[in-house]
Amino acid sequence: MRLIVTGGAGFIGSNLILHLHNHYPDAEILNIDKLTYASDISHLDSLKLDRRYHFKKMDLVDRKDVRKAVQNWKPEGVFHLAAESHVDNSIKGPEPFVLSNVIGTFNLIEECRQLWFDEQEPIHHHRFLHVSTDEVYGTLGETGSFTEQTPYAPNSPYSATKAGSDMLVRSYFHTYGLNTVITNCSNNYGRHQHDEKLIPTVIRKALKYEPIPVYGKGDNVRDWLHVDDHCRALATVFYDGSTGEQYNIGGDNEWKNLELVHNICDILNEKVGNGPDGDYKNLISFVTDRPGHDFRYSVDASKIKTELGWSPTQDFDALLSQTVEWYVDRYSQKRSS
Ligand SMILES: NC(=O)c1ccc[n+]([C@@H]2O[C@H](COP(=O)([O-])OP(=O)(O)OC[C@H]3O[C@@H](n4cnc5c(N)ncnc54)[C@H](O)[C@@H]3O)[C@@H](O)[C@H]2O)c1
Repeated sequence: MRLIVTGGAGFIGSNLILHLHNHYPDAEILNIDKLTYASDISHLDSLKLDRRYHFKKMDLVDRKDVRKAVQNWKPEGVFHLAAESHVDNSIKGPEPFVLSNVIGTFNLIEECRQLWFDEQEPIHHHRFLHVSTDEVYGTLGETGSFTEQTPYAPNSPYSATKAGSDMLVRSYFHTYGLNTVITNCSNNYGRHQHDEKLIPTVIRKALKYEPIPVYGKGDNVRDWLHVDDHCRALATVFYDGSTGEQYNIGGDNEWKNLELVHNICDILNEKVGNGPDGDYKNLISFVTDRPGHDFRYSVDASKIKTELGWSPTQDFDALLSQTVEWYVDRYSQKRSS
């Protein structure tokens, strides 16, 4: 099956391409990525010479390029992940978020519609999977979880642009009958994440003996899901999900930010040692909170579990430890090169 994966040089996209390549032998993948600062195409070096993998450097905001790529490749399915993804950057400068996340999504889905529906026989079985976030639902208090029925209430420019793109994709199902599915996932962790995100930042700063920044008092709560579980969920929804449906994806694994940072420091204490006064926690430094910082996200993933039989791996300690080791290796190699 000819697939397009957008954002395949990013964190989740690169893991997804490896997952699809390993588990779906008939998948022929075109990776479309602009290669922004957040990407690292070397994560896919192992596929460079593979006949089932192709790469095109391209900005989804450029409609002509999107048209050419879609018309040439003639995808039978799309996994759309490309996006500007860092909330702090969206607060400093929202424009690239509006362009990539909203206009980029429009260009891609509209070109797919023209390819799949403008022929004499419209093709209804080619599927467009739009990958989104739980942040579109806004924030929660101490209790409760987001379901697929929770009204959207995005609070940052990042989540607002993701919400906008979700709505566009939804409208292509209701208006044109395009075969769409949307997923809304909680925070991912695992290999290949960009340095700027929370877990890599904690590890990088700790190894350099620099202050480990924690927003506010570190009380904000996030649900954490391993990236491999997310990739498995995306493939499950793509191949088995019902047309026009939306699926929440989460790890049943909530942590306060400060607890998570403590866990990472404990792993570093055990695996690396040499923390200041014997403990990397001594580097934690509380910094002014992010404006409009959502207090808590929690995802009710019952629908994907009961309807599609997906469930998250329940071994956070081992997977977090594995993740920390991957970044320790990465940062030690960078220091020695
Ligand atoms: N990371 C998470 O915890 C998480 C959780 C839920 C949902 N998501 C969603 O999953 C998707 C991937 O997230 P990620 O963490 O891998 O992001 P990322 O920032 O690591 O990767 C995004 C990729 O998209 C590419 N890209 C950005 N703008 C582009 C454009 N205009 N044209 C072509 N390529 C472009 C970048 O070069 C990068 O390789 C995003 O849509 C994000 O909203 C992420």
